Amino acid sequence: GDCAGNPSISLPGNLYQPERSNSQGLDLADEATLHALADVLSASRTWGGEGDHAVLNPANLQDVVGHIVFASAESVAEAISTAEIASTEWGVLSADQRALCLEKAADVLEDEMQPLMGLIIREAGKSYANAVAEIREAVDFLRYYAARSREVFSEPTSKPLGVVACISPWNFPLAIFLGQVAAALAAGNVVLAKPAEETPLIAQEAVRILHEAGVPEFAVQLVAGAGNVGAQLVRDPRVAGVLFTGSTEVARLIQKQLADRLNPDGTPVPLIAETGGQNALIVDSSALSEQVVADTLSSAFDSAGQRCSALRLLCLQEESADRVLTMLKGAMTELSTGNPQLLSTDIGPVISSEAQAGILRHIEEMRAKGYRVYQAPLSAGCEEGMFVPPTLIEIPSIAVLKREIFGPVLHVVRYPRAGLDRLMDDINATGYALTFGVHTRIDRTIARVTERTHAGNVYVNRNLVGAVVGVQPFGGHGLSGTGPKAGGPLYLRRLLGVSPPLPLS
Ligand code: SER
Repeated sequence: GDCAGNPSISLPGNLYQPERSNSQGLDLADEATLHALADVLSASRTWGGEGDHAVLNPANLQDVVGHIVFASAESVAEAISTAEIASTEWGVLSADQRALCLEKAADVLEDEMQPLMGLIIREAGKSYANAVAEIREAVDFLRYYAARSREVFSEPTSKPLGVVACISPWNFPLAIFLGQVAAALAAGNVVLAKPAEETPLIAQEAVRILHEAGVPEFAVQLVAGAGNVGAQLVRDPRVAGVLFTGSTEVARLIQKQLADRLNPDGTPVPLIAETGGQNALIVDSSALSEQVVADTLSSAFDSAGQRCSALRLLCLQEESADRVLTMLKGAMTELSTGNPQLLSTDIGPVISSEAQAGILRHIEEMRAKGYRVYQAPLSAGCEEGMFVPPTLIEIPSIAVLKREIFGPVLHVVRYPRAGLDRLMDDINATGYALTFGVHTRIDRTIARVTERTHAGNVYVNRNLVGAVVGVQPFGGHGLSGTGPKAGGPLYLRRLLGVSPPLPLS
């Protein structure tokens, strides 16, 4: 690991949390469950209410998922005033009372799992399996931060920051949305929750559930809208802390804004930012090719590659590169990319036409440079939606990658047997440090690369996605984020105000 902390190594089982267990989700092999889900999806229900903003299904732009009101500048300002007044109402509760509300919300999420899955699949283009994982992770965040807050507030100096803004992305529209909100609430703060403009409807349901579970209405308020809403929250001097997950570029803009002011106690406004990655997997010639292929497919193409943790760069040792590539291309051909409302679909759409255009432009630029491009076929019926076929691009060096491509695009480089250290330096030189993996059967190689990586989450002989709350705290360094890691023991502490020191005894 690097000076910023030890990489998390995956641990078997739930070693972290004896007092709590992770959500079990739904069994998608159960036929009755699948029938119920099919009913939920075919109901073509519209979500939200009256509103000027229509949310469209990225798999089928003819499908209007619902409507919502985007907040005006006046209503955002009003929400901040209300939050300030409400902060006492929530902050005076005991940590245990607050934690109980979050745990109740987790129970409600599990009870409502099926309709919520229907919404996530339509609004965010997620597969059934990803929709289950999304809800499980949201439930885990609620229970995890509830448990942690009891511990943190057993120390008499812990006190909330005040009004906190949570600005979240569309790629985990429930899990990251609720992860941020649950942490901020568990630390006794009141929250203005700004969901991604692409996925406000599931966020609205999440806020409804928090209110039903006993979180006072003004302790968490939804402020839906585009980037201007987030910018207004960040600028407002009454906002005492910001949680942001999204692009590195926007994180830097937020950091710059926050640097211009201090909180009333004279301390800097804390920012927790989780951003992008240029995540690499190194595969040497001792690795088990079948396992490499399975882990590469899930890391690069699951969720249509729209995870910050997703694999962007597969590094193959020259001696076995051809064998792995042949198997990988064959396996890619078997992936079904199409409407996620079909159970047979492996890979759904990307989120928007802008996203699709940007990804396709990158693929064409790489092709124009003469790099070999291999694409899996799309299913029939993809014309109505924002699909990108799983794509593999063979590149001569890491240096040709200028930016993170947030979609189902995997770059492949070959490295010589003697070039491992140089390869690690090139990966580190991207400046990103989120996830990293190695496939090898040589212990010395594991030690060598895990010593040298800067990445926050390091995976050995497995895939790079799906960090589990409370077991694999998730987050990176450098251009990938500020830390502390989400779903880990230090996260809540960044959301506390400065307290007088403990009296010396
Ligand atoms: N936590 C997710 C993962 O590990 C990414 O946001 O895949």
